[in-house]
Order: sequence, then structure tokens, then C-alpha cells
Amino acid sequence: MNSGNLLLLGMGGTIAGLAGDPKKPMAYQAGQIPTQALLEGLGLEPDFGEIEVHQIANIDSRHMSEELLMQLAWAVKAGLERDDISGIVITHGTDTMEETGVFLHATLGKLASHYRKAVVLTGAMLPANAEHADGPSNLRAALYMAKESRETQQYGILAVMAGKPCLARDLSKQHTHALDALVVNARELDGPIHKRQADLNLPTQMVWPWIEIVTSHGGSSGRFVDMLTSQGVEGIVIAGTGQGSVHQALAQHLVLAAEAGIAVVRSSRTGAGAVFSEIPEPDSAWNWLSARDLTPAKARIALQLALLEANSRKTEDWQSIFATI
Ligand code: SIN
Repeated sequence: MNSGNLLLLGMGGTIAGLAGDPKKPMAYQAGQIPTQALLEGLGLEPDFGEIEVHQIANIDSRHMSEELLMQLAWAVKAGLERDDISGIVITHGTDTMEETGVFLHATLGKLASHYRKAVVLTGAMLPANAEHADGPSNLRAALYMAKESRETQQYGILAVMAGKPCLARDLSKQHTHALDALVVNARELDGPIHKRQADLNLPTQMVWPWIEIVTSHGGSSGRFVDMLTSQGVEGIVIAGTGQGSVHQALAQHLVLAAEAGIAVVRSSRTGAGAVFSEIPEPDSAWNWLSARDLTPAKARIALQLALLEANSRKTEDWQSIFATI
């Protein structure tokens, strides 16, 4: 095992949630228990080592904010840079864990690999007082993953849920209550994947680019796009049908939006699989970019980061930055 302590960063979520009646675990409130208390009764080996706990937030992750993402990222960065910390675990609500996962992967994944450390996200689908609560086994698995990263050589921003480890970038919640809801379609973990030479800069500003997700569906119109454009939206992620196809009425307005300089990214609302740039129409013809395997929610964060990076560095356009996330 690695020498060094682990850092446990708590964000809240169902893993820290409580049901009013433990026999009705679907009716609960997330973010009720302090992160420190989640360590009780985990049955870690006596020589497991110290776990330093920092409670960053205790929220239902549907309320995640850019400010909290930045606080979390700075805490992860500080932990990675400390010699006495050998790995980091983050407890997080599952509803937006995939967004936090892609954000941390893009901004700190290379740094984690550089320091040969794992940052492991985990959470739970059942509240802490449910009869078969999955939080303790998930947290235990995450702590061991972080602790044993030098032996397994699995570094970077990772995740584990329901006994299935994966890259945090590959998380996507695809079921409302299955215990493996986030990892059901994730690739097996066989080493971190980084397409970039370097991490993207951590945002420093409080206000990130305004990006909205617009869903294509039967009966779509472009009215919502026009509303957003007139209000100053900076980017639109299309949650397209099937392989990322878009209703023609909506498409017309999105082509105009792209012509007006709004960043348009095309993803699929199906929840799994990838969107390819030539299918069904070439993105280049319409000035859009395909989101590849990023879900709409993940593509939204990736686009924010790509726009921030392109604005700050001016040497690479947002399209080429987005393509490496
Ligand atoms: C949340 O995302 O905070 C609530 C849902 C969950 O953690 O499963």
C-alpha cells in the first residue's frame, strides 16, 4: 500500500442522506450527515492509515454551482500537491457527479497522473439509513482504490460505484434508482485517458460562459433558440435524438445561432453511445461540433471550459480544445 494519508472531501449527496422512514428509502433528503460520520463502521483495516476529512459542502448535488466546483477543484489540487497525501476520495451526489467528473478530469487529470495519485469520486443511490445502503461499500471501495493506486497504477480522476471502477469522465447517470446507475455503460478502467498535453486552466472567475442545453423532439421549433440568442447565450448544447439528429425546424435556428458566433455542440439525449461528426449531416457544414461520447450535461461543462480556455489563451480555438476533453 502507499504510505501517506488519504484526503476525504465531502460534497453531500445521497451517501450523506437520511430517509424519514428507513423502510421507504426513496423518500429522503440528501446531505444530512457530516462526511466524518460516513467513515464509522466501514471496517477498514487497523493499519489503513489516517484519513483527513474536509467538508466542502453538504448539498443535494442538483444544486451544484460553479463556485462549489471551483472550491472542490482547489481542494483537490492542494491535496495532490501535498507530499503527505497519497490519494483523494470525494463523496458526491450522483445526480451531477458526471459533470464534476468531467470538470476535474479536464482540469486536474494530468496533475493527478503526474503525482501518481488517484482522485476517486463515489456516492450512493440509497440514503445512509436505508436497510441495504450502498454508501458504505462504495466509500470503502473508493478509499481502497485511492490507497492502492501505486500498486494498481491507476491514476487520474476516477470513480467507483456498485463495485465498478471507471474514469470519472465516463460516468453518466442512466437510471433513476439502479445501484450501478452511473457506471452501467462506462468503459472498464484500464489506465487514464488524456488526449491533452496539459490540463486546462482552473477557472478563476466566478461567472462562467452561459451555456444552455436545448432538446430536439417531435414538434420542436426554434423559438427557444431565438430567445436564448437575444438574451446573450454564449453556447448551446443540442440534446439531439438518436445519433444526435436534430428536428429541421430547430436546426434552421441553430445554424443561424452558430453563424452569429454562438458555440453549438451536438450531443445525443439517449444517454449512452457517441455522436459522430459526419452523421447524420457533417457538423462542419453547419458550424457545429459533435460531442462524441459526452452526454449533454457533460458536454455543457466541457464547452464552458473550452470557451474559458480559448478566451484566456487566444492561441487555440474552442473547437480544438473541446475535442480533447
Ligand atoms: C444528489 O445528487 O445529491 C442526490 C442524488 C444522489 O446522490 O443519488
